[in-house]
Amino acid sequence: MKKVFAVFLFVALMSSSAFAEGEATVKLPDPEKSGGIPVVDAISQRQSAGDFVDTELTLQQLSNLLWVAGGINRDNGKLTYATAMNTQDMVIYAFTKSGVFRYNHEDHSITKIADGDHRALTGGQPFVAKAAVDLLYIQDTGKWPKSRPIPAGDILNCGFAHAGLSMQNVYLYAASQGWGARTRMNFDREALTKLLGLTDKHNFTLMQCVGPKP
Ligand SMILES: Cc1cc2nc3c(=O)[nH]c(=O)nc-3n(C[C@H](O)[C@H](O)[C@H](O)COP(=O)(O)O)c2cc1C
Repeated sequence: MKKVFAVFLFVALMSSSAFAEGEATVKLPDPEKSGGIPVVDAISQRQSAGDFVDTELTLQQLSNLLWVAGGINRDNGKLTYATAMNTQDMVIYAFTKSGVFRYNHEDHSITKIADGDHRALTGGQPFVAKAAVDLLYIQDTGKWPKSRPIPAGDILNCGFAHAGLSMQNVYLYAASQGWGARTRMNFDREALTKLLGLTDKHNFTLMQCVGPKP
């Protein structure tokens, strides 16, 4: 009963007070930037999980997770992971039970892109539709400076490097929370392009399931 109420409360938060009528963007609570387990312990526990609990994170947990994945961690506006020439070209989408959200690291907010549960769209493996959050890492090549001729292949490689760096943060954070995480490369690019309104300047890199595990 307690669990049902907690789920109800979170859905109510996400659909009413967090997102007021007609409002698409919501500021997340400040992330908790301390705690967890020592980093070497997290490294020794890092692994890809094979199953997840079908649940939702609280707004605070989502805030913490998205900050770890790609928030600003210094006064100079740089991020929790390195990006080539500080392009900050990665756009992170969070697929949850109640909707699909784009993370805006600039002001630590989320923009609702779609209502409802679209987690199953992000992969055919059975645990994908259960993970509390499926993170999609999209590279926005439009963030690269036009002033320097950089080969398109190099830009694409950097996109995968950026996703990998961010995903390792998430793997270690998941270990520190006792959660699971799993990187994935199989997803329906066509359906996701349509749902998210992506253009040809957006490159798909990888996805990652994250959340409580059984
Ligand atoms: C680039 C990449 C793509 C992956 N794609 C998938 C995937 O599509 N589905 C899946 O279940 N696991 C996927 N994995 C997870 C690997 O299977 C997993 O990392 C590997 O078995 C090693 O296990 P470990 O992460 O626990 O060390 C992927 C991992 C990486 C790094």
